[in-house]
Amino acid sequence: MPFGRRHQNPIGRLIDDSRYQKEMEYRHPMKQLTGRTAVITGASAGIGQRVARALGAEGMNVVLAARSADKLDSFANELGQAGVTALAVPTDVEDTAALEHLVAHSVGRFGTIDVLVNNAGIETYYPFEELDVGAIVQTIGVNLTAAIILTRLAMPHMLEAGRGHVVNMSSTAGKFGPAYGAAYGASKAGLVAFTETLRGEFHGTGISASVLCPGFTNDGGIYERIKQGIGKGTPPQMGATSADAVARAVIKAIRRDIPEMLINVPPMRPALVLSAIAPRLGQWCARKASARFLKKVAFSRHKVDLDDVGASVRLNGVRKKSA
Ligand SMILES: NC(=O)c1ccc[n+]([C@@H]2O[C@H](COP(=O)([O-])OP(=O)(O)OC[C@H]3O[C@@H](n4cnc5c(N)ncnc54)[C@H](OP(=O)(O)O)[C@@H]3O)[C@@H](O)[C@H]2O)c1
Repeated sequence: MPFGRRHQNPIGRLIDDSRYQKEMEYRHPMKQLTGRTAVITGASAGIGQRVARALGAEGMNVVLAARSADKLDSFANELGQAGVTALAVPTDVEDTAALEHLVAHSVGRFGTIDVLVNNAGIETYYPFEELDVGAIVQTIGVNLTAAIILTRLAMPHMLEAGRGHVVNMSSTAGKFGPAYGAAYGASKAGLVAFTETLRGEFHGTGISASVLCPGFTNDGGIYERIKQGIGKGTPPQMGATSADAVARAVIKAIRRDIPEMLINVPPMRPALVLSAIAPRLGQWCARKASARFLKKVAFSRHKVDLDDVGASVRLNGVRKKSA
């Protein structure tokens, strides 16, 4: 609900009237986006492109970071033709020197970084006992460590400017660790905690952070490839969302300084509330909603990997019980 409008229900009005809310209305300096600068990682595809488009449409300068230089260049050209000032900076977020270059180049060109969207991410749904150790390190590195390091590098510039907003792209997997997604879920949960830390430590400085937790997006990105891989989508009880809804949420989160946004159709939210107050029951519901689908994803990949080496599709025979 925009500032200035009042909730209809008593609990909403109480929140409206809280000192915190009033404080945020005049303190948070990121309501104004036009002419400011956003750095978006993972901007060569999926959600990152939608977010860059949406921030560009708000009049922000956008710095596009990802590994695929060609895709970044053509996307920067496309944004340029639409009147957006866009700078492509090819970056592997696992490389600290590349992150330093990204910050230096952005600040050199635009003076500061007002908004940092830590969006680059990879997923590794796979049977855990056979998950490659390198894949674990890479998942945590790209999804979590890189976000912390890049924020650390951008922070002195935000402090100097007296304003800044960090948006961390987590997932519903960060709110409830998914079966078959051990490293992914852990990295996304880490982003939730990291965001809370930033909000606590920098409160009152003009710098804040939001964490976004989307469900699977049904119009591009990681989930599109998962769907193609197994030939079917998520069951209705798991819910889904769209990359455009995520892009809109990024803008809302920055403008209104929202700590955390869950972006998914309703079924996920009650399960999360339930798991907070009754963990065993909540976990049972979440498992029922998602484990079968995720198992299909994980084992279809495992089968492909084993087929590649001409082996049996059985998982070493160590799994006794199905999910
Ligand atoms: N789509 C969904 O259903 C969904 C749901 C919940 C959360 N999320 C999260 O949303 C974010 C974006 O997901 P998406 O679906 O848009 O994925 P995507 O289409 O696969 O795009 C991932 C982006 O991350 C970049 N990237 C990957 N590794 C990188 C690296 N080492 N260095 C720099 N960039 C790297 C990729 O660019 P290059 O390959 O060019 O480097 C690409 O631009 C991720 O953090 C994901 O976990 C997605």
